[in-house]
Amino acid sequence: MANKYPNKVYLNGEWLNADKAKVSVFDRGFMLGDGVYEVIPFYRGKPFLSSAHIRRLEYCLNEVSILLEQRFAWSEVIDEAIAQAGLTASDGAVYIQITRGAAPRTHYFPQNVLPTILIYAFELQLSGFEHRKAKVLVAKDLRWHRCDIKSTSLIANVQANEYAHGLAFDESILERNGIITEGTHTSFFCVRNGVVYTHPAGPHILPGITRDWVINMCFKLNIEIKEEALPINDLQEVDELFLTGTTAQILAVTEVMLADRSTITKRTGSITSKMQQAFIEEIENL
Ligand SMILES: Cc1ncc(COP(=O)(O)O)c(C=O)c1O
Repeated sequence: MANKYPNKVYLNGEWLNADKAKVSVFDRGFMLGDGVYEVIPFYRGKPFLSSAHIRRLEYCLNEVSILLEQRFAWSEVIDEAIAQAGLTASDGAVYIQITRGAAPRTHYFPQNVLPTILIYAFELQLSGFEHRKAKVLVAKDLRWHRCDIKSTSLIANVQANEYAHGLAFDESILERNGIITEGTHTSFFCVRNGVVYTHPAGPHILPGITRDWVINMCFKLNIEIKEEALPINDLQEVDELFLTGTTAQILAVTEVMLADRSTITKRTGSITSKMQQAFIEEIENL
């Protein structure tokens, strides 16, 4: 499904035709990347895991000290975004972005500035993810040390994703100090001898909502799960690899190109398939 502009957006309290929605050139999101964002999936118009997404958004706002004037009725605005986009029977996601607002440019926080809030829903092809096989390559993780904040400053993620895209790969998996942290917009998992591994939560990864869902599902299905990072040198030995994310959902990785351009291949394994089936069931019962 091709990326398209939405017709309607919520900007600072109003629903507008997108071509009428204007933001100051002095907005700190535009000038400094001083903002955070969130992406909440919906299936057949029904938001999925929205409370966890809202909790992460509130955590991020708090971590960067962007204070909203009043308590925001997130659930209602998410439903409204889906309705405004005419997607109440479709699959897609709601994008929410909040910047510190517009002010004369300074590095320190300006006083008495209202945050800029942008929200819209867009359609996505979400079904059929279980049939896809991803080809990834390894890139250096050049991001900052607060990857737990879903910041709009995504230049390092963009660079690493473009590197993959330019070589016709689906995603870059990022390596910091010899271990794999995550993808540019996905969480990374591997399976070794029946045990599922993923990088521990902390400042070097985004605490993915789909990642959390997988961890909980492992507990439910009695599959051992360890929050331990995979050394890049062990990639060859693992049995299964998969990525998770709001748009990727649970995506099997079948090919990895290493920094020396050698390639490792994997098959979609039974644990990846089990997770995908459990995910599909949960969505069907939404
Ligand atoms: C860097 C990064 N890691 C992981 C994820 C996956 O997180 P979630 O499952 O909440 O979409 C994302 C999502 O955009 C991301 O940007």
